[in-house]
Amino acid sequence: MEFVDIKTPSLILDINRVRLNAERMSDVARRDHVRLRPHIKTHKCIEVARIQTAGHDGAITVSTLAEARAFARHGFSDITYAVPIERGKFASSIEILKSGVKLNLLTDDADTVKALDAAAGEAGVRFDVFVKIDCGTHRVGVEPHTEAAVEIPRTISDAANLSFAGILTHAGHSYDVRGRDAILEVARHERDVMVALAEKLRDQSIEVPTVSIGSTPTMSTIDHLDGIDEIRPGNYIFFDNFQATLGSCTFEDTALTVLAAVIHRDLFRNKLVIDAGAIALSKDRGPVGLDPGCGYGRVLDLDGSETGLRVTGLSQEHGEIEADDGATISRFKVGDRVRVLANHSCLTAAQHTHFNVLENGEIVDRWEIHRGW
Ligand SMILES: Cc1ncc(COP(=O)(O)O)c(C=O)c1O
Repeated sequence: MEFVDIKTPSLILDINRVRLNAERMSDVARRDHVRLRPHIKTHKCIEVARIQTAGHDGAITVSTLAEARAFARHGFSDITYAVPIERGKFASSIEILKSGVKLNLLTDDADTVKALDAAAGEAGVRFDVFVKIDCGTHRVGVEPHTEAAVEIPRTISDAANLSFAGILTHAGHSYDVRGRDAILEVARHERDVMVALAEKLRDQSIEVPTVSIGSTPTMSTIDHLDGIDEIRPGNYIFFDNFQATLGSCTFEDTALTVLAAVIHRDLFRNKLVIDAGAIALSKDRGPVGLDPGCGYGRVLDLDGSETGLRVTGLSQEHGEIEADDGATISRFKVGDRVRVLANHSCLTAAQHTHFNVLENGEIVDRWEIHRGW
């Protein structure tokens, strides 16, 4: 099928770029002898995860228990659910564990450790549990210098029905800096804080099986991973407008675009409207702090080249593209197709049911996205 014949809006996934991105991160893991446990929330797609884990041990990270169930059904058997666990999800987690999957959980809360230990004991199962550490993002996690950063690991280690899996962090604040040098500084801090905490725990006779770190910006720039056991980048497999603007990758590395149709042209106001609105692109403001004119995505021609236009406004099913002059706008007419490189590929992909797989200019497959909670 010609990809211009696909219904719009639809996701177009450039599979050659996906393979290259996978290979590059694979090389980082191999170079530093660490386990690659990619975060599959970016795509929620079995086929993409198989590309990412090829040549590795098949371990993955998920952001929902629905992802855990879907990937377990397709043979992935070592899964870290990387959002802090709470008691409303104990029963589902136990069910997944009982299905034969090693489901690793994480927490930053001492009371939850006790409740999870009791629930696991009652169910006759044993969970591997990470302690989530806050290395500077201040979203979730225990501050590494606090007493809790030692006491929670100790409580898990002493629990009858839990095993202490190790310490885990995510340097989300790497998205707030600009350029590779600044990202590298955050990456080194992420690594060094975790290595120091692991040493402190070991000094206090707490065994730390795994030190797990990783975001896409930090793992795209890190110089070495001494003392680290595992990395969990996710977005790197597609990248997006945010990552390219930030400096984690180039625009040529970005693999996911949204195919959209022009549904309105206004030559008086120098404006186009496309049928990809907030639902199809997501309303993520992306790199607005770095590029105030970024809008909600870059408008590309069908061959992926820049038009210079940006999606400047969004409502549910309308994407507005306003330009300073009419020259580029007048190139397009109603019914024409464009591709949009959205700001945040994880959020964009999560709005859709499937990827249209583009290989050498042709759509060669359709891959399902496993959504839900
Ligand atoms: C706990 C955790 N690990 C890994 C990742 C992957 O990070 P990135 O999307 O920057 O690759 C995320 C992303 O939010 C995360 O929350």
